[in-house]
Amino acid sequence: MEFDEMDVETIWQDGSFVDWDDATVHVLTHGLHYGTGVFEGVRCYDTQNGPAIFRWDEHLERLYQSAQPYDMEIPYTREELTTATLELLRREKLESCYIRPVAFYGYGSLGVSPGDNPVDVAIAAWPWGAYLGEEALTKGVEVMISSWRKHASSQIPTNAKTTGLYVNSLLAGEEARRNGYTEAIVLNKEGNVAEGPGENIFMIRDGEIYTPGLSESILDGITRNTVIELARDRGYTVHDRATISRGELNTADELFFTGTAAEVTPIRKVDNVEIGDGSRGPVTEELQQAFFDLIDRETSAHEEWFTYL
Ligand SMILES: Cc1ncc(COP(=O)(O)O)c(C=O)c1O
Repeated sequence: MEFDEMDVETIWQDGSFVDWDDATVHVLTHGLHYGTGVFEGVRCYDTQNGPAIFRWDEHLERLYQSAQPYDMEIPYTREELTTATLELLRREKLESCYIRPVAFYGYGSLGVSPGDNPVDVAIAAWPWGAYLGEEALTKGVEVMISSWRKHASSQIPTNAKTTGLYVNSLLAGEEARRNGYTEAIVLNKEGNVAEGPGENIFMIRDGEIYTPGLSESILDGITRNTVIELARDRGYTVHDRATISRGELNTADELFFTGTAAEVTPIRKVDNVEIGDGSRGPVTEELQQAFFDLIDRETSAHEEWFTYL
């Protein structure tokens, strides 16, 4: 859905609630020119016990950590950003939505060094359904190995969720879509599997679960962490520091993506080669169910992951 078709009227910007149309920045904003922003993507679910933000504390923590390599001091406390977000969702009566906090070097001077430029912060929220389409969750997606490689973490901190990094995600994702696929898989500089443009990736082989380790140039995904925990709760062996070669994808029993936007999305084909029998596999289905059960059950197995409005 386009923003213009939405019924959300307010955005929190630099300490106050402003009209959606007034939440603007100067064209000489540092972050616009150099990609010097950090952000989060968070979901609020309409659970059995009312609307609740999923793993808010972890997302907030990652936002502050992302700012660290850029020496960016977010001029609000965790409590202030939490209060602002809860207030925004309540005002807009948003029960099931996507939340986008962003902090960036603002307007002041335009050298690459941000100097004394202010750090601006905004929080927006809007309704957002399944990222890769409803059907993707049951049938799985067809993906292509991108010809674009992920940046090495010696070039840019890949564990910081920085706006500028997403140019690489755009290139990979659009290349895949131009070629008729739904999404891309991006290899790291070494040629091993890193992640999707906005998702982490999991592989199942002989009943065990593998996912690339943090040193493979991936984002430390919060859904990744959630699924690892859910899988271990169910007795699975999870190798969370795996190095996965490209060829292993083709011989995997199952593959799936995780992400706040993508949730748990099965991958049914890679470069037109079927994975397993070309549909959602049993382990993927079990973990996907476990993930959605967190939200749909009256008593969630992990109540500590929910911040109620
Ligand atoms: C590059 C990248 N990898 C992985 C993820 C998944 O992370 P999370 O589960 O925290 O949303 C995202 C989404 O934020 C992402 O942009």
